[in-house]
Amino acid sequence: MDKYFDFFNKYNDYYMEIAKDQFQKLHIHRKIEHSKRVYKIAVEVARKLELNEEEIRLVGIASLFHDIGRLPQFFQYNTYKDSKICDHSLLGIQVLEQEKILDDLSSDEKRMILEIIRLHDYKELPSDLPKKLYDYVSIVRDADKIDWMYSMVNIIPKLSEKDQAVFYSNKENKNFISKKVVESILNNQVISKKDMDTIDELRAAAMGWVTSFIKCPPSYEIIKRENLIQKTFNLMGDTKEKQVIFDYVRIWINRL
Ligand SMILES: [Fe+2]
Repeated sequence: MDKYFDFFNKYNDYYMEIAKDQFQKLHIHRKIEHSKRVYKIAVEVARKLELNEEEIRLVGIASLFHDIGRLPQFFQYNTYKDSKICDHSLLGIQVLEQEKILDDLSSDEKRMILEIIRLHDYKELPSDLPKKLYDYVSIVRDADKIDWMYSMVNIIPKLSEKDQAVFYSNKENKNFISKKVVESILNNQVISKKDMDTIDELRAAAMGWVTSFIKCPPSYEIIKRENLIQKTFNLMGDTKEKQVIFDYVRIWINRL
């Protein structure tokens, strides 16, 4: 993995160097640290699932690079919002192709890693994926979401109001949770990013990932071990919606 970490570190250093201001530096740095943690979580899940060493390396490379496109994205557009001109997954694939960092892998491994990166942020995976790709991408997707939950509990609350505002659009009514968000969670559906307007909707959606998005049994163990559902709940405003969601998710996770 040394070669991949060397490239990862050099690429990150370059963007930290050219970042235009403190705001960019903070958010680029946040993404770098996110990728490092996602790598660790993904490798832990892969080991618990008893993947072999080659498979663990593949999942490790994909998880380390899954958000590499976030750096040029934030540098250029000052936002994490994906659009047709700037999908961070596709941008990441372009970076890895241009830098030829995966070219000494077998063509199958390279294709698999690029596919994992392309699919990592899909709301739902296509139903016709080959089994191995489905398994590997599920590990990276779980690790990505677990770290989001971790960040929401441990990192985002420590940011200034301005820096937190990158994550949600409705700042006036922070604790509002729409009916649509509650219903989606109670129906085990993944909530679209466009339906998360307030910080508590973001937190509610994160709790809801447990019943909809997360796929690997060791991922549930990590969420329980880190007490992420309770800690997310504790940060939310005092609304009946959060209680309904919490009760539903808590029963679900304790059944596993
Ligand atoms: Fe991503």
